[in-house]
Amino acid sequence: MKVAVLGFGTVGVGVWDMLEKAPGLERGLVLVRAGKENEDFKVSSMEAICNDESIDAVAEVMGGVEPAFSYVSMALKAKKHVVTSNKALVAAKGVELNKLAIENGVSFLFSAACGGAVPFLHNLSIATLDDEIESLGGILNGTTNFMLDSMQSEGMDYAEALSIAQKLGYAEADPTADVSGMDALRKIMLACAVAYDKLPVDGFSREGIESITAADVNDFQAMGLTARLVTSGGEAGDSVYAYVEPVLFSAGAAECSVLKNFNMAKYFGKNSGSIVYIGQGAGRYPTASAVIRDLYCIGGVPMFTDKVHEVVADNSACVHGYYVRCEAKDAASFDFEESRVDGENVRGIVKPIAVTAMHEKAKAIRDNGGKIFFAAMEK
Ligand SMILES: NC(=O)c1ccc[n+]([C@@H]2O[C@H](COP(=O)([O-])OP(=O)(O)OC[C@H]3O[C@@H](n4cnc5c(N)ncnc54)[C@H](OP(=O)(O)O)[C@@H]3O)[C@@H](O)[C@H]2O)c1
Repeated sequence: MKVAVLGFGTVGVGVWDMLEKAPGLERGLVLVRAGKENEDFKVSSMEAICNDESIDAVAEVMGGVEPAFSYVSMALKAKKHVVTSNKALVAAKGVELNKLAIENGVSFLFSAACGGAVPFLHNLSIATLDDEIESLGGILNGTTNFMLDSMQSEGMDYAEALSIAQKLGYAEADPTADVSGMDALRKIMLACAVAYDKLPVDGFSREGIESITAADVNDFQAMGLTARLVTSGGEAGDSVYAYVEPVLFSAGAAECSVLKNFNMAKYFGKNSGSIVYIGQGAGRYPTASAVIRDLYCIGGVPMFTDKVHEVVADNSACVHGYYVRCEAKDAASFDFEESRVDGENVRGIVKPIAVTAMHEKAKAIRDNGGKIFFAAMEK
């Protein structure tokens, strides 16, 4: 099978390198920007790839929604199989692209878009054939895991942890998608669509780690707790629940052993019980390895079926206790089980409350200029 690669950056170079030695796979062309065709295998025209009948599959590793969406659509219409690492593309346009793939009798796979090297979506799509997925999610963002682990195990403050994550190449120059929880949210969107044929496109609750301080870490560490940014998903009637928020785990929880920039993806199957995968969620070769794996899975079990459709997430039935740190003036917003005054702040555990209500309260406090950090207590 001859493969064209769209984009020659971190992942693209990794895919190109691995293609050289992958049995049964062959290097085709690489799409680069105009003016960057400095080797004979590089082209800047998508038409050149679509019109090349020797090319069977396209690996899209450019990122972003456009022009990736146009190029992937062109490739599918030209009856080329498509694999992609681009979660933004699949979250925004996955249903449409899947339809095009089915119409043209080709595969559309995106294992690398959720969990990097961790074979989560691949195995989830197979598990749906003989199992009911009761819940799914986990730690799906390595950058924030690195930052939280560094703050806890090495006593760094937020700015230092972020700066080191950037120096090590774990965080982008603009880290917003990671620290805001958006990257993790896109991944749980894809996982829900694979598991339930329902791609949630609205109605989420999303809290990242931007509000956490070294004082928060000191406080919950004194209680024997460890923070992780966790995605949660599952079926909710005709819809799904899908949310991202920091969660505090007690010692012994599997999440506490996920260190540095590792990911932990998991699902609970009615038949299989708990299945957990831990591994590298990003990086050149870990991500490229998932792209190559998808190429070998072409023609097999699809990730999205012909039933996949968009829904509005419904988190109304999800309820947790929460750790909350807020200013004293805002403390009356919460029904604390236990609390204490810490300088100008109040810290404590609030009684179980709906995820949507907790996120809305935090938003209202911030809209009024207040400051708050919250994290769900381990479920
Ligand atoms: N890096 C990871 O560890 C990782 C992990 C999982 C998933 N992903 C996903 O994989 C995708 C690629 O990530 P990456 O880290 O490899 O990004 P990257 O290093 O920025 O590489 C993207 C490449 O695509 C090229 N490109 C962008 N627009 C183009 C266009 N219109 N025409 C031709 N080339 C174009 C860029 O060229 P220029 O340099 O000329 O702009 C660059 O070479 C993203 O969707 C990302 O979310 C990445």
